Amino acid sequence: MLGNFTYHNPTKVIFGKDAMDALVGELEAYGPTVQLVYGGGSIKRNGVYDQVREALARAGKTVVEDGGVMPNPTVEKLNEGVAIARENKVDLILAVGGGSCIDYAKGVAVSVNLPAGRDPWQTYWVDFEEPACEVVPVGAVLTMVGTGSEMNCGSVITNHETKMKVGHVFASPDVFPKFAVLNPEFTFTLPRYQMVAGIFDIMNHITEQYFSGTDDNTSDYLAEGLMRSLVVASRAAVRNPEDYEARSNIMWCATWALNTLIAQGKATDWEVHMLGQAVGAHTDATHGMTLSAVALPYYRLIMPYGALKFARFATAVWDVDAAGKSAEQVAAEGLDRMEAWMREIGCVMSISELGVTEDMLEALADSTLIMRGGYHALTRDEVIEVFRASL
Ligand code: NZQ
Ligand code: ZN
Repeated sequence: MLGNFTYHNPTKVIFGKDAMDALVGELEAYGPTVQLVYGGGSIKRNGVYDQVREALARAGKTVVEDGGVMPNPTVEKLNEGVAIARENKVDLILAVGGGSCIDYAKGVAVSVNLPAGRDPWQTYWVDFEEPACEVVPVGAVLTMVGTGSEMNCGSVITNHETKMKVGHVFASPDVFPKFAVLNPEFTFTLPRYQMVAGIFDIMNHITEQYFSGTDDNTSDYLAEGLMRSLVVASRAAVRNPEDYEARSNIMWCATWALNTLIAQGKATDWEVHMLGQAVGAHTDATHGMTLSAVALPYYRLIMPYGALKFARFATAVWDVDAAGKSAEQVAAEGLDRMEAWMREIGCVMSISELGVTEDMLEALADSTLIMRGGYHALTRDEVIEVFRASL
């Protein structure tokens, strides 16, 4: 480990089949008015909404409804949520859903007390400021697994006007959810497409933090363990989506994949997310599938710059036999095995399937941020090359 760091994750996690029993007690720590954030209605169909309303009633809260948060939440919706929070002077924002609802709740939380005239998008997703105003507390009840938003300080917002989808990873501990209720059974009703998208999102969060650096680093061993667990659990969940053991392992992998633990003491890459977010900004496609569609062309392009680490990935995660082979050969076999796993579980493997056509590639490149923490910083031509190979 060569880096210096301070690790502080303040989110309290309540996990398991009985996790909801703790919600009333958590709510009691906050003031009387709760902004209840949810998406397009899945929680009303699977009964989670009723359970949350019951807990809110038992805790004696006044509830301000804020439903209709779309996947990939937009600037317009964010501004609407800020207005609701200001008008009702809410004491807690409770997000019930996946990453979109939790990210949105954090976005509202940091914006409510901005001085008059300050625009949330400009302040936080263009200028990347830290909140200088009071942040409204956020709580989460997770129903879709993948983003890790339940235990991190990231918030991704989409601006369709400027064609930018941008994630701000806040430094302030105030932006982490205060508590997160994680019941794996709540994920049983997820459509298979969403479940698989979430699984690849988790895998990619880990690889984004793993493919960087050359030092011997505890974080990389943790990452390998998480990846091995994810591969085993994903196969079981695809066979039987109601396999509690598998769904609980996937949920816990997701949380640890992106609660910043495995990034400590090392550089990180995040270029697959930048490419995927550009696809998302232009197509509004499901986040995890935007990543699966571009990941392999990207990794095959950068592999020669980090062949030793890619070879380690092949042996440590995919059990490739390295005997008598060059690092590049072992590395290539590892990526082939990852590809086979992605096809097996049902990942989207091309951006054409998500609505991208060849004439959009220049515009996609315009929307792609270049990261410098991985093994190779892409040139614009290489960005286009990756998108073309992903068609
Ligand atoms: O809106 P509803 O009706 O609730 O339906 C949702 C939505 O359509 C549905 N769903 C959720 N739980 C369900 C369910 N359907 C049936 N049963 C359930 N139990 O699933 C759909 C997708 O939900 P969404 O919240 O959009 O998915 P996800 O958790 O993947 O979040 C995606 C957003 O998070 C951002 C992404 O960019 C995207 O905007 N990310 C946030 C990160 C962070 N905070 O650190 C990091 C990630 O890399 C990611 O970028
Ligand atoms: Zn992601």
